[in-house]
Amino acid sequence: MLRFNSISALHAHLTAVRQAGQTIGFVPTMGALHAGHLNLIEQAREACDVVVCSIFVNPTQFNNPADLARYPRTLEQDAAQLETVGTDVLFSPSVTEMYPQPATLRFNFGALETIMEGASRPGHFNGVGLVVSKLFHLVQPDKAFFGQKDLQQVAVIKCLVRDLNFPLELIRCATVREADGLAMSSRNRLLSPKERAEAPALFQALTLAQNMLLDEATPEQAKAAVADYLDGWPAFKLDYIEAVNADSLQSVSELQPPGQTALCIAAQLGNVRLIDNVVF
Ligand code: PAJ
Repeated sequence: MLRFNSISALHAHLTAVRQAGQTIGFVPTMGALHAGHLNLIEQAREACDVVVCSIFVNPTQFNNPADLARYPRTLEQDAAQLETVGTDVLFSPSVTEMYPQPATLRFNFGALETIMEGASRPGHFNGVGLVVSKLFHLVQPDKAFFGQKDLQQVAVIKCLVRDLNFPLELIRCATVREADGLAMSSRNRLLSPKERAEAPALFQALTLAQNMLLDEATPEQAKAAVADYLDGWPAFKLDYIEAVNADSLQSVSELQPPGQTALCIAAQLGNVRLIDNVVF
């Protein structure tokens, strides 16, 4: 695996890759890698000649400075894991390499950024849009791989690719879970053992609501059941539970055609904010 910190060295290498006619698969991450990230790499490995992974804890997408400060940083362990799944290139730039000057560009993702994560984390998707646009320009991938775990992020990137004509294919990959159902997340390692034991309640609540909707309950009834269920775990503070169309992410009042209903949830568990979703 080749490792680059500088944009110019990355660029020189990838220019040669493209000139040799090889396709590039790209997996952007913020590190603290787990099996969910590695699954994205494996899918890129199958689909493309050269697999590029970036690790960059992007400050512009954190609206909470404390969250940025304690975000886990485990670069050398991450690099070792990336080697095991056949990554060709690791790009891990510094903050000054990516942002020599503070960025002033602002995106407007319309309704997408006023709901759910957008409402709870003002500015978050602007920062995501900014860094992913920069990375797409630097890497120029043929295919880019993102996790369904961050369903709203996928919708934002889809908008970016469409509106800015990035010549790449966006691929949404299924959420990878722990054996007890908890969606894998870099933030899970910030949970205390007690919180970690309670954390699967989030996915249990989602599954409960999914079954209710499939059983002809209304979204309002399913959402109320989720709130009730999480009340049984006093450590959880529900932020939102929404039934939405899986593509537009707009609220729905009835079940959508198969594969197009999504239930999205976010809750605070102690100091850690967890999100999850199911699409059915
Ligand atoms: P990060 O949280 O590190 O996630 C990197 C990629 O891994 C994202 O596409 C995310 O959806 C995916 N991912 C995380 N957990 C997953 C799981 N359990 N199963 C499947 N995929 C999972 O998302 C970001 O970083 C950043 O916002 C980024 C896109 C890199 C821009 O800074």
